[in-house]
Amino acid sequence: MKLILPTITLALSALTSAQYDVESKSFRLILSSKDTKVNGQTLSACHTGAAIESLCLSGTPSTSKPDPIAAATFRFNTSSNIETPADGNVPGILTYKLNASPPIPSSLEFFYDPTTNYALPLLFPGQGADTQTLAFDKKNLLNVQGYVNYKTSPPTAGNTTAYYRWYSCSTYFSGYQYVNLVWALGDAKPETPGCAKVDVKRVFI
Ligand SMILES: *[C@@H]1O[C@H](CO)[C@@H](O)[C@H](O)[C@H]1NC(C)=O
Ligand SMILES: *[C@@H]1O[C@H](CO)[C@@H](O)[C@H](O)[C@H]1NC(C)=O
Repeated sequence: MKLILPTITLALSALTSAQYDVESKSFRLILSSKDTKVNGQTLSACHTGAAIESLCLSGTPSTSKPDPIAAATFRFNTSSNIETPADGNVPGILTYKLNASPPIPSSLEFFYDPTTNYALPLLFPGQGADTQTLAFDKKNLLNVQGYVNYKTSPPTAGNTTAYYRWYSCSTYFSGYQYVNLVWALGDAKPETPGCAKVDVKRVFI
């Protein structure tokens, strides 16, 4: 039980006061997968609404993006108020500068449609309560930290674990159809046919 309180305090302080104000060096995000069409692909920022972008596969054609596009430059903003945890998985947010004059600092949120079993990560201007907290592990793999194990009944809390539930999927959002990075909700493959399990690696430029 001792572990729970600091975790909650950390989460609350991250929500209320801690701004993710410390910017990392720039990097690309590269996918690894058993699917050879997906393995080695970079992630790009694909227009999916006014100042909103999804994380599409740079080289994979789709209805809204028939041709390959350049890989996007990302950064990871951490907080000067949060100490580095023992496992090295520093919490932070994935950021991107939308090309405009001046550039628009944007950060990643998960968009949830309650009728499907994955969340669609989207870049929105600024950072707020809905911005998704993420981490990179020692191998530079992007993950989401969870401290509730839902596979026991009742669920058990207190053991912070890194989850890597990333997939490449053909998606639909607000009229745009891309092959995007998505986050599976729960320990199952997204229901859309053709999704491929991926790991997401940070490679500094
Ligand atoms: C990330 O941190 C930098 C440096 O403090 C800041 O300029 C930028 O606006 C932050 N990004 C977001 C999306 O808040
Ligand atoms: C915490 O979770 C990890 C990964 O799921 C597991 O290997 C470990 O045994 C768990 N520890 C406890 C105390 O439940």
